[in-house]
Amino acid sequence: MKRNILITGGAGFIGSHVVRLFVNKYPDYNIYNVDMLTYAGNLDNLKDVANRPNYTFIRADIADLDKMRRVIRENCIDGIINLAAESHVDRSIADPFTFARTNVMGTLSLLQAAREYWESLDERYEGKIFYHISTDEVYGALEVTHPEGTEAPFTTRASADAHMAYGTDFFVETTKYAPHSPYSASKASSDHFVRAYHDTYGMPTIVTNCSNNYGPNQFPEKLIPLFITNICQGKSLPVYGKGENVRDWLYVEDHARAIDLIFHKGKIADTYNIGGFNEWKNIDLIKVLIRTVDRLIGNPEGHSDHLITYITDRPGHDLRYAIDSRKLQSELGWEPSLQFEEGIEKTVRWYLDNPEWTENIISGRYRQDQ
Ligand code: NAD
Ligand code: DAU
Repeated sequence: MKRNILITGGAGFIGSHVVRLFVNKYPDYNIYNVDMLTYAGNLDNLKDVANRPNYTFIRADIADLDKMRRVIRENCIDGIINLAAESHVDRSIADPFTFARTNVMGTLSLLQAAREYWESLDERYEGKIFYHISTDEVYGALEVTHPEGTEAPFTTRASADAHMAYGTDFFVETTKYAPHSPYSASKASSDHFVRAYHDTYGMPTIVTNCSNNYGPNQFPEKLIPLFITNICQGKSLPVYGKGENVRDWLYVEDHARAIDLIFHKGKIADTYNIGGFNEWKNIDLIKVLIRTVDRLIGNPEGHSDHLITYITDRPGHDLRYAIDSRKLQSELGWEPSLQFEEGIEKTVRWYLDNPEWTENIISGRYRQDQ
């Protein structure tokens, strides 16, 4: 079936994987990628699909309501996947207003532009969908409550079930919102606006909340790509606090597959949590990264251990995130495809095989080309 899909933030990390998946998998869809190309947007991420006949790039700000009205109307958009956002917690602590502008006002502008266009059609909202990509950070922070003698990661469903039987808590779809950082507060606010457009105007919406993603094309300010780069360059690895915070890691292509599935099969007005049952204490993850990079670049084991440097903690640093994704698994049959060790090896290899991608960012060249 012919469809006109608007994907926002498609030049960023997760967005570029979603755009690639949709452009390759659905030749009958017209895919419009709206991205403002902030520091985090990089058209190098999409070189392989840039000239496809079913792909169009539009440089625009999602907070520009008039522009969003035109893009949606002129291209007869019938589905929207909203990934455009300011996404880095440390930047939100330094500059919360930019986060409110893009994440809240940007999402609201897109909702309003879509509403005006869809309500002007005879069929109104029939066959339409506004799918908003959110984060597990809106739920706040969990305690570390692993039963005595057990350690993260929870690599399998079965071990997650065992932990739940012991009373270890996870974020579920009905967990109350309790954001702590300006980033998560802005994402929580945007989620509420999306649900409000469903409840008030009847717009068909879906929200998903995903855990930490990792993989190729992630901007090297985030933990995994930053540390891979620093290990290669023999630079110090700045670990916040004691390195005891826990994150639940998912390979980015598994998130993109979940988005595809939910976009096509998800229940309107519903929420799905997406995560890999793959929790790691930061310091344990960092040790895995060091071992993997050292092995792949031919350093002796332990060569880069001395780079670990404990620094002042991030203000308001959430202790633990952990997603219970069993609803998505049981209702729509999604499973993460990669074990973490495989995903990390694939990721490290990608950064080692594509040094110019990171170099272009560090030198700023990626911004001159676009
Ligand atoms: P990213 O920072 O890598 O990419 C964001 C993209 O949005 C960039 O291409 C940027 O240019 C674009 N953008 C920013 N402001 C814009 C604006 N005003 N108008 C148009 N485009 C704009 O982010 P990411 O890590 O790929 O995250 C994508 C989405 O997924 C975000 O909504 C984020 O909250 C959510 N999310 C991310 C993770 C993660 O681990 N990275 C996990 C869960 C959810
Ligand atoms: O949980 C989903 C979220 O994951 C997304 O919504 C965000 O967009 C994404 O940025 C990510 O947020 P985090 O704050 O968890 O990711 P980050 O890579 O910044 O940090 C991961 C952990 O590592 C966190 O506990 C902070 C710590 N850290 C991070 C950096 C950059 C360090 O110890 N040192 C660092 O230099």
